[in-house]
Amino acid sequence: MGIEFPHRHLLEIGPLSREDIEVILRTAANLKEILRRPIPKVPTLRGKVVANLFFEPSTRTRLSFERAAKVLSAEVLNFSARGSSLEKGENLLDTVRNLMAMGPDLFVIRHPASGAPHFVARHVRIPVINAGDGFHEHPTQALLDLLTVWERKGPDLRGLKVAIIGDIRHSRVAHSDILIFRKMGAEVYVSGPGTLLPPEREALGARVCLRVEEAVEGAGVVMALRVQKERHGRPLFPSWHEYARFFGLNRRVLAQAAEGALLMHPGPINWGIELAPELEDFPGQVILEQVENGVAVRMALLLLLLKAGEA
Ligand code: CP
Repeated sequence: MGIEFPHRHLLEIGPLSREDIEVILRTAANLKEILRRPIPKVPTLRGKVVANLFFEPSTRTRLSFERAAKVLSAEVLNFSARGSSLEKGENLLDTVRNLMAMGPDLFVIRHPASGAPHFVARHVRIPVINAGDGFHEHPTQALLDLLTVWERKGPDLRGLKVAIIGDIRHSRVAHSDILIFRKMGAEVYVSGPGTLLPPEREALGARVCLRVEEAVEGAGVVMALRVQKERHGRPLFPSWHEYARFFGLNRRVLAQAAEGALLMHPGPINWGIELAPELEDFPGQVILEQVENGVAVRMALLLLLLKAGEA
């Protein structure tokens, strides 16, 4: 029997139903077993070509897509903006058209402009996965975050409080995570400096708290975010020292969370700013589990988008 998945692209969380999300996560959970084999390789995507187009820096997302593709035996084309003909004035659409001529079956795109993967998706006939666009969304990060919470807390998130702390306004991870956790039944609270918080009406249904302690109190999941300084344009808080003092997470703040609370961070982390170094061995810290799940979730998405509809 062929694989069923009703979406051609993965551009944002909104169009995914709860059932779609469950299919992606169940597929990822099944595929994770392959990663633990002595030889972690299966022929499922032999003959397929995945093109990774990264117009912004990345460690986790780019390498996990590459790892995911190779475990499934797909070939990988890696494009980085730095050192490419973009530096000679070539535009995004020409770049994509030229890469299309090399025969990829799927594009993975990270771009500093919100909406860039959507724009590409309108001009190509192959699936596009958004690997982070400006401060709009990072849907694969939200899926891997959700898988990490499922593994630790179970799939029924009703009544679970999720606290997201930091630069909510400029964070594509925050936007995708708020949408996915609310869709799955959790209550989401956000906190950070006032200049880094969205107005209540733009908080996507998350509860906005000015005090970190209010957001963290009783939370079963606490997630810290990196300050997206490159997207600010002007200083939005007085100093890193003050940020760490009032909005950095440490054991004192996490003592307010529910017993057994998970501590998450999408990375990259600035230790000493958003997380105190003492949290490296916090019992509920699952940051590298998030990274491991990133490979499994991306394997699932490549499989679902490349094999759906095939007999
Ligand atoms: N979480 C995340 O997107 O990390 P990278 O920027 O390293 O890909």
